Amino acid sequence: MSAAPLSGRLALVTGASRGIGRAVADGLHAAGAHVVRLARSLQEGSADRRTDLRCDVTDPRAVERAIGRVLTELGVPDVVVNNAGTFFIKRIEETTPDEFERTIAVNLMGPFLVARALVPHFVQRGTGHLVTIGSVSDHVAYSGSTAYAASKYGLRGMHEVLRQDLSRTGVRTTLVSPGPVDTPMWDAVDPDSKPGFTKRSAMLQAEDVAAAVLYAVTQAPRVDVTEIRLMPTVYTARG
Ligand SMILES: NC(=O)c1ccc[n+]([C@@H]2O[C@H](COP(=O)([O-])OP(=O)(O)OC[C@H]3O[C@@H](n4cnc5c(N)ncnc54)[C@H](OP(=O)(O)O)[C@@H]3O)[C@@H](O)[C@H]2O)c1
Repeated sequence: MSAAPLSGRLALVTGASRGIGRAVADGLHAAGAHVVRLARSLQEGSADRRTDLRCDVTDPRAVERAIGRVLTELGVPDVVVNNAGTFFIKRIEETTPDEFERTIAVNLMGPFLVARALVPHFVQRGTGHLVTIGSVSDHVAYSGSTAYAASKYGLRGMHEVLRQDLSRTGVRTTLVSPGPVDTPMWDAVDPDSKPGFTKRSAMLQAEDVAAAVLYAVTQAPRVDVTEIRLMPTVYTARG
């Protein structure tokens, strides 16, 4: 593979201010792409094949505005990574309606809004790659993950339907489902202090997920990597 397999390509990554999204954005940039990063806490600006836009992916008008700017100023992206997400562990009786709604909004509505805005452009052009960051929680039930599992199983459902609907269009779709990854997402849970949780030192690194995304988006156009599951080599059942 060439050193810059994505040279001349445009990529967009949501939730790219830290954690997995930032590592994916860095990986795509190192592979030669111009990378648009979306998140609420980014300072807006553009330099050296990087464009940062402030965007709350749960806000339909904000997503429309951000995607509109990308289309007008940079063009139709070649790779879009729906990564922004939120996570907490609470049993159903402790989960408030607001917490449930918020989780669905970030993890499911956000990817829907981004895909809805860009898929028609992919189809019209006959190329494009939509990567969805799912989770082991999109196919394994973990106690106390009611809201998160609902959002991630839903995301898997949306990915599968899009895969069907886009199968004759030239547009590729990939679901990347990692087990526990050592990112700021775990700060509030503090898994190292709790029995039964995979310790942070044993977790995957954000760069491992970025490598999986890079693998999927650098295959020959005839290859659609439909799904990648990653787990730490040594892990406990609790994730
Ligand atoms: N860490 C894990 O163990 C793990 C395992 C499997 C899957 N995942 C998935 O991987 C993805 C990234 O997780 P992570 O571990 O990197 O989490 P993280 O470190 O907490 O980062 C989350 C990212 O999402 C962004 N974000 C959150 N709410 C947003 C909103 N409303 N609008 C726009 N951006 C928003 C955050 O940016 P701002 O705060 O700046 O908006 C941040 O960049 C998530 O979908 C998560 O479910 C994580």
